[in-house]
Amino acid sequence: MERRVGIIGAGVSGLLACKYVVEKGFQPIVFEAQPGLGGVWTHTIETTKLQTPRQAYVFSDYPWPSSVKEDFPNHKQVMGYLESYANHFGLLPYIKFNTSVVDIDYVITQQGHQDMLSWTHWGGTTDGCWSNPKGKWQITTTTITTTIGVQEHQVYEVEFVILCVGKFSGVPNVPHFLPPNKGPDAFSNGKVIHSMDYSAMDKSGAAEFVKGKRVAVVGYQKSALDIANECAIANGVDNPCTLIYRRAHWNIPDHHPYGVSLASLYLNRFSELLLHKPGEGLLLSLLATFFSPLRWAISKFVESYIKSKFPLKKYNLIPEHSFLQEIASCSIPTVPDRFYDLVEEGSIILKKSNEFGFNKDGLVFKDDDDATAPLEIDVVILCTGYKGDEKLKNIFKSPKFQSYIMGSSNSTVPLYRECIHSRIPQLAIIGYSEGVSNLHTSEMRCRWLAHFLAGGFKLPSIKEMEKNVLQWEKYMKRYAGPYYRKSCIAILHIWYNDQLCKDMGCNPRRKKGLYAELFEPYGPKDYANLTPGKN
Ligand SMILES: Cc1cc2nc3c(=O)[nH]c(=O)nc-3n(C[C@H](O)[C@H](O)[C@H](O)COP(=O)(O)OP(=O)(O)OC[C@H]3O[C@@H](n4cnc5c(N)ncnc54)[C@H](O)[C@@H]3O)c2cc1C
Ligand SMILES: NC(=O)c1ccc[n+]([C@@H]2O[C@H](COP(=O)([O-])OP(=O)(O)OC[C@H]3O[C@@H](n4cnc5c(N)ncnc54)[C@H](OP(=O)(O)O)[C@@H]3O)[C@@H](O)[C@H]2O)c1
Repeated sequence: MERRVGIIGAGVSGLLACKYVVEKGFQPIVFEAQPGLGGVWTHTIETTKLQTPRQAYVFSDYPWPSSVKEDFPNHKQVMGYLESYANHFGLLPYIKFNTSVVDIDYVITQQGHQDMLSWTHWGGTTDGCWSNPKGKWQITTTTITTTIGVQEHQVYEVEFVILCVGKFSGVPNVPHFLPPNKGPDAFSNGKVIHSMDYSAMDKSGAAEFVKGKRVAVVGYQKSALDIANECAIANGVDNPCTLIYRRAHWNIPDHHPYGVSLASLYLNRFSELLLHKPGEGLLLSLLATFFSPLRWAISKFVESYIKSKFPLKKYNLIPEHSFLQEIASCSIPTVPDRFYDLVEEGSIILKKSNEFGFNKDGLVFKDDDDATAPLEIDVVILCTGYKGDEKLKNIFKSPKFQSYIMGSSNSTVPLYRECIHSRIPQLAIIGYSEGVSNLHTSEMRCRWLAHFLAGGFKLPSIKEMEKNVLQWEKYMKRYAGPYYRKSCIAILHIWYNDQLCKDMGCNPRRKKGLYAELFEPYGPKDYANLTPGKN
């Protein structure tokens, strides 16, 4: 029986998937649409840096080069690090660049197993992944041959697919404008783009695009803050950048509120004791309830620090939700250095609006007293995020699998261990669910997956997997509120990693001594010597 593995994407997740399955003796094919590796890091705006400290955004077995001293390296340094990782572990020969996967299709090869809904175990077998697969995946690709630009179509067959297509690219989230004739098409005297298009421009192209223009930026998360900052620096008070947001957020100045690290407040075992956990027993549940005032106080402590650093009250920017919700949704962007100085001097104008549309000259705000007076503008940059779930969905040929991925309108993308859909056989997804350091999160999952593919453990029944998914969903809804669909595990990453460790037969307690185990933050270095099946 063949054991062919296809990996789609050569960003951080695809590189990790490749490295760990190669280590287990597989010979994967990695399909990458772009001419190079690195995913989102290949097209960022000029000022992009890591937001996660590099000590957390690090491969467990491959340190940052000593030449990188910054805690938050810039995008070029990140790219250099990823390229050197791929070279060091000999991953390049496995990657087919310029090769887009058009779709993937699961074809049943064993007669009598078409009724997949009757399967009680993942893939229709209790024997593990390879012993008795009921079908195989067909991967249809288009390759652009660089020399003459010709497109070649090809179909590959593999027994296992690892989807590493990323979440923050490809399918932009573009707001729905009502009525429809008030959308960007109505803005005949100006231009509307998404932050994705702006990030794709090179430094001089982006500078030229905004120079001397009246720019409006929509959103109040990292892309919006960074792009508004760039535009304001380019244009100053003569052509201020208007930042249009619908919800204020606890965006942070740094990772050390009043000198205490966020990691020691939120990323150790003690901090996880303050939270209700998926599938917790009575004792843990009582503890989380008992500690709820402390949980509240820590959140208030961080909020008070942010308020002391930024003029939130002056600009009516105090969020209605807690910092706890912010970090539980993996959305704590760092505010660019001079952002509020630019607001104070008038180079950035903040405008709250829940609903707006366009006319030929600019933007019309539905909630303004005079809703007919437009904000005259030349360029609108929508920094409204991405539809990562649709990107995943689109890759499946089967409408049934497409609907499985999307889940229902009020569920998360239902993945067991945040990697496997209980009813999509012989396939795993890495990089959808988020953590504090997405590199570390993907690395843990790739280790787990590779060990599973090597026969290291078996998955529970479909029913048990679904139960577990619902427990995590309950947790996400409880703490991330409306952002539960981001599938963020950040403030429960130790509890989550514990489960991966137990599946792999490893000791989840990675520290020396009770104090360290309880109070020291957990990060990639704690799992550096993790050997599945051994320690
Ligand atoms: C500007 C920016 C900064 C960020 N900063 C941080 C940070 O500081 N800390 C942090 O933890 N996270 C950060 N993130 C999140 C980031 O997405 C992850 O850290 C990580 O880089 C994601 O890697 P990935 O491989 O999962 O996805 P991606 O980097 O998106 O890679 C996916 C790859 O799949 C390829 N692909 C997609 N579809 C197909 C197809 N159909 N056929 C073939 N190939 C395909 C793409 O071309 C791409 O190369 C940032 C994201 C952005 C956008
Ligand atoms: N390291 C870096 O420097 C860097 C740089 C850029 C991006 N990133 C990462 O990339 C990811 C994507 O970031 P992002 O900022 O592009 O997207 P994002 O985090 O998804 O934020 C989207 C923003 O758009 C707003 N929005 C969405 N739909 C809207 C609508 N219909 N009308 C008005 N506003 C709407 C959201 O408002 P609500 O909050 O009200 O929902 C939010 O403020 C994040 O993980 C981020 O950390 C990192």
